[in-house]
Amino acid sequence: MNTSSDTIFVKATTTMDGYFRDVDIYDYDETIVAHPYMDQIKSAIAARVIKHESCIARTVRVADVGTGSGQLARTLLGLQNSKIALFDIDLRSKDFCSEHPELADLPFHVIDFADPEAIESFAGGFDVACVLGTLHHIPPTQRKAFLKNLARVAGVVLLADEGILEYESEIERRRNAEVWYDFVINEAKRRGLRKLAALERLFKASDISSVRGPHDDFKQSPTEIRNQIKELGFELRFETRIGDWKKNRGGMYLIEYSQSSY
Ligand SMILES: C[S@@+](CC[C@H](N)C(=O)[O-])C[C@H]1O[C@@H](n2cnc3c(N)ncnc32)[C@H](O)[C@@H]1O
Repeated sequence: MNTSSDTIFVKATTTMDGYFRDVDIYDYDETIVAHPYMDQIKSAIAARVIKHESCIARTVRVADVGTGSGQLARTLLGLQNSKIALFDIDLRSKDFCSEHPELADLPFHVIDFADPEAIESFAGGFDVACVLGTLHHIPPTQRKAFLKNLARVAGVVLLADEGILEYESEIERRRNAEVWYDFVINEAKRRGLRKLAALERLFKASDISSVRGPHDDFKQSPTEIRNQIKELGFELRFETRIGDWKKNRGGMYLIEYSQSSY
């Protein structure tokens, strides 16, 4: 099923065209930390990295791809045996991280991870790639390239994102997406998180719209993502879902995959 058949995407052209042109990175950093299930998904990622730490008898090289304001990286910095590098397409992410006392010492690479040439010099350079909340900002036509590049750069990919409960059509995807976003918005309102509620209203509008900018939200089901990974010939190693998916018609998911030879 092609869920994006009636949706128009506009291509980004520069590193300043990205996500943080429309969303202030300081507002993002302040609000996203309180997003429902964010703590749980970060600890689920950390648990998998710790598992790899226990299997690899040296420092684990971790790439945080689509680092944004570096919240996942800050969580992973508490691990004992990992060395972290940051990657993002957006220069505003680099500026934010280089001014942040917890992140300033980490290497930062401004690259488009959907571009095979851009990642070439990093091929095989990492044990684990962690990707949180980024896949749904990659235009659908570039998602397979993005998933492929992650597995070229790292032995194991930990792909975590918000997802939408499985659907049979784009209409049903949007219906499920509305329920999920409304849960997040109402939860933000219940907790008095007015900025988070306002941002999520914007994300909801773009996700259920027929016209979308290149980095606007387009959330898919874990099954669709899993199928793309399988079509690329990669091995699925682990999968978990966080939240009440049946009731909220969405939630967080974590899929671990690798090149089958790994
Ligand atoms: C919603 S933010 C997620 C940030 C962070 N991982 C988190 O969970 O808070 C998505 C990030 O992905 C980055 N991004 C989008 N497309 C990218 C690409 N093709 N290559 C690298 N980073 C990309 C954006 O610039 C943005 O910082």
